[in-house]
Amino acid sequence: MTTYLGPEMYTPVNDLDYSAAEYGHLQGIPASVTMKIPEGALTDDCAMRLALKAARQGIRGANPLVGAIITNSTGQVLHVGWHRGAGTPHAEADALAQARAAGTDMSDAKMYVSLEPCNHTGKTGPCSHAIKEAGISQVFYAYPDRSAQASGGAEYLRSHGIVTTYMREFADDSYALNERWFISVAEKRPFITIKSASTLDGFIAAADGTSKWITGSQARADGHLIRKRADAVMIGTRTTLLDNPSLDARDISGQRYKKQPLRVVMGETDIPSTYKVCGLGTRDPENYMQVYTHEPRVLLDELYSRGVRHLMIEGGPGMVGLFTGEDLLDELVWYRAPILMGHGKSAMYRLITNTLENAPRLQLDDLGMFPSVRVLGEDTATHLIPSPRSTAKNTPGIRRVLPRFTHKYFPDPRE
Ligand SMILES: NC(=O)c1ccc[n+]([C@@H]2O[C@H](COP(=O)([O-])OP(=O)(O)OC[C@H]3O[C@@H](n4cnc5c(N)ncnc54)[C@H](OP(=O)(O)O)[C@@H]3O)[C@@H](O)[C@H]2O)c1
Repeated sequence: MTTYLGPEMYTPVNDLDYSAAEYGHLQGIPASVTMKIPEGALTDDCAMRLALKAARQGIRGANPLVGAIITNSTGQVLHVGWHRGAGTPHAEADALAQARAAGTDMSDAKMYVSLEPCNHTGKTGPCSHAIKEAGISQVFYAYPDRSAQASGGAEYLRSHGIVTTYMREFADDSYALNERWFISVAEKRPFITIKSASTLDGFIAAADGTSKWITGSQARADGHLIRKRADAVMIGTRTTLLDNPSLDARDISGQRYKKQPLRVVMGETDIPSTYKVCGLGTRDPENYMQVYTHEPRVLLDELYSRGVRHLMIEGGPGMVGLFTGEDLLDELVWYRAPILMGHGKSAMYRLITNTLENAPRLQLDDLGMFPSVRVLGEDTATHLIPSPRSTAKNTPGIRRVLPRFTHKYFPDPRE
């Protein structure tokens, strides 16, 4: 049986919804997502594998990829849910909503979920409570949620008589899906997406300073979707002063999305309030801040304390190099236009790697609903994540911090 789990089965719940439909106008993005649901009774192992597969239907970003399967007592799949991004229902809530809508009898039902159900009230209520109230009799999960705020779901379920099993043999699979997210949670900092747009040979501006527009409208629209997903978008003072960007999140027709990120400028030079990023007189000046620091950690602490859990860094090359060199990068989205410049302004500096061995390594990210390399009009988008940082699961990532930029090696272009 092939079950279509695309947008037609899913009613968007709010402006934060990231279903495939939203991306359908962009070339290279599947308009709907399909999953083959095996017919007949599934073993516990097969059901958990399906939950992990469902998790991968979700969009990458600042939230974990989680899938949930509801079966009847004999293992027949009844509902498949997954998490679609920050602010949307958790996978368990998604599957339970489908069950409620279909009037499914849940008295003997089992749930397989790729991450321990949460036990806290965030943007949604505790999944552990929702599972209990739905009448599910058995729960299987693949990885314990150790975050201070959300842990305790399995304990809650057991204390309410629900047979709850940790299937530790699937822990590695669940962990691999979410390592990047676990690291930012453990480090109490926002999840960091760095975005860059360059020529094929890695330049973001020509020698004469011309830089608009290197990539085409589809790539730019894709970048705006990341802005919309993020809680905050950050640039350096120099990009602000040179390019005067608004940092709005806009759709392909130029309309502002309802959900807008906090606009952030990092650096010590004062930005005059007439600059677009400040939003004075036009939009929402309260949705803007400058952080007067050169220390990434100071910026991250400041943003985290304001509730920012997903930060998008849009440049310039100094900021990209600074955060990459400090191993403060959870995902990298690199748009490349089929242009060759030979020389110009490099897409990244302040990153000191004098031997290949020291260079930060990345890997293609094939998790989630999109392929790691996409064609967007004439351009390509490559989605990358750091090569695994931790040597063993449950071990916080090992930082590979490179020596900090010094003027001696990489002079500031203004000097
Ligand atoms: N194609 C793209 O995707 C893209 C995106 C963005 C920008 N750009 C281009 O990038 C260029 C500007 O980039 P940029 O790298 O020169 O500037 P930048 O990264 O925007 O800003 C650099 C400034 O950040 C401040 N800063 C913060 N922390 C620092 C630290 N640890 N060390 C040193 N400085 C720190 C400094 O300013 P203070 O002195 O004020 O502290 C520094 O001059 C423009 O030409 C723009 O068009 C291209």
